[in-house]
Amino acid sequence: MLGPHVLFGLVLAFLVQADITKDHDPRLKTAVILDTPTTGASTTPEGRTFLKLARIDGTTGSQIVEVIGNNYTLVPYPNDAWNSWNGSTDSQADSEVKYVSANAQRIGPDGRLWVIDSGSLAKFPNSSKLISFNVTTNEVDRVYYLGNITTTEGSIDDVRFNGKHAYLTEYTVGSIIVLDLETGYARRVLREHKSTVALMPLSAEGQFMRDSATGLLKYIHADQLEVSPDGKHFYYQPGIGYMWRIETKYLNEALHNDTTADLLPNYVEPFSLTPSTGGTAIDAEGNVYYSDGDRQEIRYIAPNGTTNLLVCDSRLLWVDAMWIDTQQRLWMCASQLNHGDLFMQPNNESNTIKRPIYVYTIEIGHSPSPLDHA
Ligand SMILES: *[C@@H]1O[C@H](CO)[C@@H](O)[C@H](O)[C@H]1NC(C)=O
Ligand SMILES: *[C@@H]1O[C@H](CO)[C@@H](O)[C@H](O)[C@H]1NC(C)=O
Ligand SMILES: *[C@@H]1O[C@H](CO)[C@@H](O)[C@H](O)[C@H]1NC(C)=O
Ligand SMILES: *[C@@H]1O[C@H](CO)[C@@H](O)[C@H](O)[C@H]1NC(C)=O
Ligand SMILES: *[C@@H]1O[C@H](CO)[C@@H](O)[C@H](O)[C@H]1NC(C)=O
Ligand SMILES: *[C@@H]1O[C@H](CO)[C@@H](O)[C@H](O)[C@H]1NC(C)=O
Ligand SMILES: *[C@@H]1O[C@H](CO)[C@@H](O)[C@H](O)[C@H]1NC(C)=O
Ligand SMILES: *[C@@H]1O[C@H](CO)[C@@H](O)[C@H](O)[C@H]1NC(C)=O
Repeated sequence: MLGPHVLFGLVLAFLVQADITKDHDPRLKTAVILDTPTTGASTTPEGRTFLKLARIDGTTGSQIVEVIGNNYTLVPYPNDAWNSWNGSTDSQADSEVKYVSANAQRIGPDGRLWVIDSGSLAKFPNSSKLISFNVTTNEVDRVYYLGNITTTEGSIDDVRFNGKHAYLTEYTVGSIIVLDLETGYARRVLREHKSTVALMPLSAEGQFMRDSATGLLKYIHADQLEVSPDGKHFYYQPGIGYMWRIETKYLNEALHNDTTADLLPNYVEPFSLTPSTGGTAIDAEGNVYYSDGDRQEIRYIAPNGTTNLLVCDSRLLWVDAMWIDTQQRLWMCASQLNHGDLFMQPNNESNTIKRPIYVYTIEIGHSPSPLDHA
């Protein structure tokens, strides 16, 4: 039915006609341009930028880099050694001091750079680790080896902080890991619970994703996660969505109390009917931003569960992990993940990634949650 909104739409389209395509939102600004897909950016308050290179285009090389200068030079972080993993020649000991399969990076509330290494568990059980770097000295601050928690089946995905506790999602089985950052003691909870298991395969641009090697549908279990700015709630979901939450006091207690660990399913609450998601971020007001892998949209969920559209733009192709900087900008890495080598393309072509790759920002008028990062 035609109505006033159609006219309004026409006026809007006219206003932004200067852009190349009519669905290009002029609020998007380019932060980084690069040749290799990136699935996550983070920044320091001083303006340093770090990226996780995804290597889904079949290339090899550095996994964690810093972006230097106006020409976006990518420098291995903290050095070449950490970025020099070679699975066919490297040893068990190497797997403990190199990125084997870095899956995420972020500046923490302490200002350190934290890297999640999912590792290569069957051959290198100790490669599963959480690493922190002092970005002033660019040296390792601490490594938390999680091989005795993940065993050979549970790949760690990402991390969030809540004081002395860290929470990690584990995506190959589906579970949450609670870690005491002081003692290094950790525990895996909510294993294969309905809130940590994907009911449907991951979906992008309206198509279920398939593993290119096996042709099988790709299920990504516990993946996105956030902690509310008051530290009270932990939000999490599998890749295909349906976001849940649980009070952090139960997670923290479960670390040392078997009874509480067993009772955790009773404390899980439904939070939001999210779709297939590339990544999330949370602001100081507790709004959770998520990227919709099917619709090239970013939406945000208010703490009361109300969801609103932030931006829709065809360039936002599989925006993975997001980030909010101190200038109140949301960073969006348009990674084109579903066009990469790991996934079967609809016409069975390989690697249909279009270069260059863009990292965009958009002003949101909200600061990051201080609990989340400096
Ligand atoms: C890019 O910038 C870096 C740091 O500013 C500089 O060292 C390098 O020479 C520049 N490279 C090119 C190709 O301009
Ligand atoms: C790993 O080392 C082998 C043997 O030296 C070499 O052929 C291969 O290209 C290396 N792989 C990578 C990713 O560097
Ligand atoms: C993993 O690390 C632990 C603790 O450092 C050590 O006892 C164990 O031998 C290591 N396992 C392997 C396979 O290297
Ligand atoms: C990083 O190292 C510098 C120099 O040693 C030190 O002053 C600073 O406190 C360290 N930062 C953190 C977060 O540990
Ligand atoms: C796992 O091993 C680390 C040392 O590698 C240790 O600090 C931690 O306490 C262990 N966790 C459990 C649950 O045993
Ligand atoms: C462990 O948790 C249960 C219930 O969640 C509680 O009744 C019990 O007192 C706790 N044990 C300790 C040692 O705190
Ligand atoms: C939920 O919160 C949003 C943002 O604060 C507000 O605009 C909206 O009215 C609230 N909705 C309900 C149903 O409380
Ligand atoms: C897709 O292409 C690969 C080679 O690139 C081939 O091995 C595979 O059989 C093809 N799959 C289908 C369903 O056509």
